[in-house]
Amino acid sequence: MDDARNDETSFGFRRVKTGEKAGLVRGVFDSVAGRYDMMNDLMSGGVHRIWKSVFLDRLSPRPGEKLIDAAGGTGDIARGFLIRADARHGAANQPPARAVICDINFEMLKAGEARRDMADYSDRLARVTGDAERLPFPDRSADACTIAFGIRNVTDMDAALREFFRVLRPGGRFFCLEFSHPVMEGLQKIYDAYSFNVIPWLGEHVAGDRDAYQYLVESIRAFPAQEAFALMLREAGFARVSYENLTGGVAAIHSGWKV
Ligand SMILES: C[S@@+](CC[C@H](N)C(=O)[O-])C[C@H]1O[C@@H](n2cnc3c(N)ncnc32)[C@H](O)[C@@H]1O
Repeated sequence: MDDARNDETSFGFRRVKTGEKAGLVRGVFDSVAGRYDMMNDLMSGGVHRIWKSVFLDRLSPRPGEKLIDAAGGTGDIARGFLIRADARHGAANQPPARAVICDINFEMLKAGEARRDMADYSDRLARVTGDAERLPFPDRSADACTIAFGIRNVTDMDAALREFFRVLRPGGRFFCLEFSHPVMEGLQKIYDAYSFNVIPWLGEHVAGDRDAYQYLVESIRAFPAQEAFALMLREAGFARVSYENLTGGVAAIHSGWKV
């Protein structure tokens, strides 16, 4: 992207040196890890659960599949993937599905490991620290690759998309869930008022870190619009690229196939 050429990138609304962003993002998630799940529920009124559920419906996990969930944080997507694959197991004579959560931030992985609702999956769930721009996995090693609310934090998104393409087997699918840009008349104003006022306030008074949540809001605005991000998927090599707006475009699911 242009940013990389200028040796500068966005960190929310700030311009920072490209090499500085990962450290700044790590600082944000180090700070919020312990309260991450609770804050998600509070900020979104639980709506993030509905978005993740729709996302997993579209991903349609199957028994025997292996998922790499990049920027997987505390593990909502990996857990949902395994639950849904198990539910479809039925009489199929296949091994159970497996998932790897890869996240640059050890504190987020640790917070996920401490979740009681993850305990049942420990034999089929691995956690690995790693950068989405340089995934620590071999070529063609996954059936599905996901990233939820993570891609906008990555410094070089094109590099990460190429990595998702590389680790997928031919026929594998990539799904991305991310905050996006409202397309419904009038929604942008309400959304701006809420996110620029309420979310930083909650960050300050509940999570004890206003700046981290100010970054969250700003990074959403700096993220490419739906069509522009779809084009980035195509440029990374994905076929059958499409997207679906959720809640009038407040979030969107992008998907593509490696053929
Ligand atoms: C908003 S959280 C999303 C976590 C989880 N996917 C979810 O939906 O609840 C963003 C995550 O991205 C991780 N992250 C940020 N930059 C990353 C990178 N370059 N590579 C891998 N993970 C990254 C952060 O550590 C954090 O856990």
